[in-house]
Amino acid sequence: MSNKQILHSEVILEKFGKSLAGKTVLITGVSNESIAGELAIQLAGADPKLLILSARAESKVTPIIHQIKETKPKVETRFLNMDLSDLGAIRQAVTKDLADVFKIDHVACVAGVMMCPYGKTNDGFETQFGVNHLANFLLVKLLLPKIEAAGPTSSVIIVASSAVRNGKVNFDDIWFSEGNTYEPYTAYGQSNAARVMFAKRLGEKLKSHGIRVFSIDPGAVQSGLQRHFTDDFKAQVAEMRNNGHLVDLDGKKFDFPPWTTRSEGAATIITGMIDPRIADATGAFLSQNAVANDDLHTHISDEANWTRLWALSEEFIGEKY
Ligand SMILES: NC(=O)c1ccc[n+]([C@@H]2O[C@H](COP(=O)([O-])OP(=O)(O)OC[C@H]3O[C@@H](n4cnc5c(N)ncnc54)[C@H](OP(=O)(O)O)[C@@H]3O)[C@@H](O)[C@H]2O)c1
Repeated sequence: MSNKQILHSEVILEKFGKSLAGKTVLITGVSNESIAGELAIQLAGADPKLLILSARAESKVTPIIHQIKETKPKVETRFLNMDLSDLGAIRQAVTKDLADVFKIDHVACVAGVMMCPYGKTNDGFETQFGVNHLANFLLVKLLLPKIEAAGPTSSVIIVASSAVRNGKVNFDDIWFSEGNTYEPYTAYGQSNAARVMFAKRLGEKLKSHGIRVFSIDPGAVQSGLQRHFTDDFKAQVAEMRNNGHLVDLDGKKFDFPPWTTRSEGAATIITGMIDPRIADATGAFLSQNAVANDDLHTHISDEANWTRLWALSEEFIGEKY
C-alpha cells in the first residue's frame, strides 16, 4: 500500500524539524513566487544557523530574506548569485563566493525551468537539460567536500517532477537535432528523467558516507514555473485533468497530481532532507512525502541508463566526480 500523503511543510517540521537546528542549508531557485522561496521561509522556522539562498538576481531573494529577518532574526541568511545556465557562474559561486563556508548540511536543488522556447545555455546545451540537470550535476560535485564535512545525515535533494512519467533521456539525440525537432514538454520530461537518474546513482555513491540523496516530485503548484505555458498547453492540461488517468511510457496508468499550495509542494523536499524513516531508501524518487520508486518507468529504473547519463554528464561539464 502506498504511504503517499499530501502534507503541509509545517507537519513534517513539527515531527522532524528539530534536526535542522544549527544547520547550514543551501537552496537554489529562491523567489517570492517559487517553491524554493516557501522552503526557505519554512526552514527558517526550524532555527538553522545559516540559509544560503541562491538565484540569478538578488531582487528575487531580498523579499524572502526580509520575511525571515522579521520572524527569525537570529537565522543568518546569505544571497548566493548563481546563474544556472552558466557553468562558469556555478564554479565562481562555489569556489569563490562560498570559500568561507566549510560545511553545508543540506543542499536543495530546486531551481528549474519548464517548457521554455528552444534556447541554449552559455555553454551551448539545450536550456532545460542544461539548467534542470547539468547545473545540478556540477553544483553538487563542487559542493561535495562541504557536504561531506557536514557528516552523516546531510542531504542532497534534487527536485524533479511527475513529468518523469512521460520523460526519458533520448541518448541518440539529447539536443533535439540542434533544436530542429525541439518539443518543449518532451525536453522538460527528458531533463526530469535525467534529474531522477542522477539522484539514483548519486545516492548509491554517497550511501557509505551516510549522505541522503533523493529526487522529489513537489506536485502541482501555481508558481513562476507556468510562465511559458501556451493557451493550447493549458487547454490540454485541463482536458487531461478532466479525463482522469494518464498513461506513462510503460503504459501504466497514473493520476494527474492535484493542485496544492507552496507549503505542500515544499513538504516533500523537507521529507527528503530529514525524515529518518526513509534514510535507507537513499537515491529514491519521492512523491507526496513517500518513497515512490514504483512510479518510475523502466527507462528510468534501468541502471545502464544511469551509467550512460553519468558518463555523458561528466563529459558535458568537463569534470569527473
Ligand atoms: N510548480 C509545479 O507545479 C512543479 C511541478 C513539478 C516540478 N516542479 C519543479 O519544481 C522546481 C521549482 O519550480 P517552481 O514551481 O518553484 O517554479 P518557479 O517559481 O519558476 O521557480 C523556479 C526558480 O528557478 C529559477 N531559475 C530558472 N532558471 C534559472 C537559471 N538559469 N539560473 C538560476 N535560477 C534559475 C527561477 O528564477 P528566475 O525567475 O530568475 O528565472 C525561479 O526562481 C522546478 O525545478 C520545477 O521543475 C514544479
